[in-house]
Amino acid sequence: MTALAKATVIVILLVVATIGADAMRDIPEFLHVCQVGEPEYDTCVSKSINDLKPYLKVGVPEYNIPSLEPLKLKQLSVSSTNSLKIQATDVNVAGASNFQIMKVKVDTDDLRFMVDIELPNIFVDGKYEVDGKIMLLPIRGSGPIHGNFSDCTGACKIQGERYFDENGLERIRITEFKMKISVGKGWMRLDNLFNGEEVLGNVVNTAINNNFDVFMREFLPLVEKALSDAFKDIAENIVQQFSYAQLFPGAK
Ligand SMILES: *[C@@H]1O[C@H](CO)[C@@H](O)[C@H](O)[C@H]1NC(C)=O
Repeated sequence: MTALAKATVIVILLVVATIGADAMRDIPEFLHVCQVGEPEYDTCVSKSINDLKPYLKVGVPEYNIPSLEPLKLKQLSVSSTNSLKIQATDVNVAGASNFQIMKVKVDTDDLRFMVDIELPNIFVDGKYEVDGKIMLLPIRGSGPIHGNFSDCTGACKIQGERYFDENGLERIRITEFKMKISVGKGWMRLDNLFNGEEVLGNVVNTAINNNFDVFMREFLPLVEKALSDAFKDIAENIVQQFSYAQLFPGAK
């Protein structure tokens, strides 16, 4: 083959590959879409999320669905209250797939979704770096972090938006994913505080756990942000494979 012929073949292959990637695919059997306008639409959506649970647990790579066990969070961004800098990386969350759907409210006209969930128990570990003050105690160090949180609730607000892709096909994207969480009870441990200074480390860990609610108020916004970003990506990756008409059959 001449160089030109080779280049042509490559261009054709690229075009075919791109078209292939853009073409609509069928809704998989495990994703139960609901008929817009049906009387129990919210209940139907709640049921389809429930039906999705076993698939979320193990993940379905062909459909960009990651495994929720464990849920991996890249980074919990640095909080910038002036008194405390805390950062966590390589965070693994176990138990996230055991969520229970409590309430679903969907506005199909505005593509607004509200989902309330309950999480009986999650276990978290990762690496932390902290510097500052918490409840007036100095806290500094880096190392492994572990936490066990029970009776958690999550309230998600999700905003979608319709758009036309370059082929004129109507699709949706997720423009906002906000999750507010509350933790019923739990504990947390930061290993190797103050370069492994055990006495001081124990003092701080005890203080954290004796004032768990106060500590969680500082810490939860980071977790909420990390979880919201992670779930926004997951939701976006799933919906972008389908057209608006496929996801919302019967919608005007
Ligand atoms: C986490 O908490 C739950 C509920 O209190 C408990 O059943 C479980 O054993 C705890 N796990 C660890 C590793 O402490």
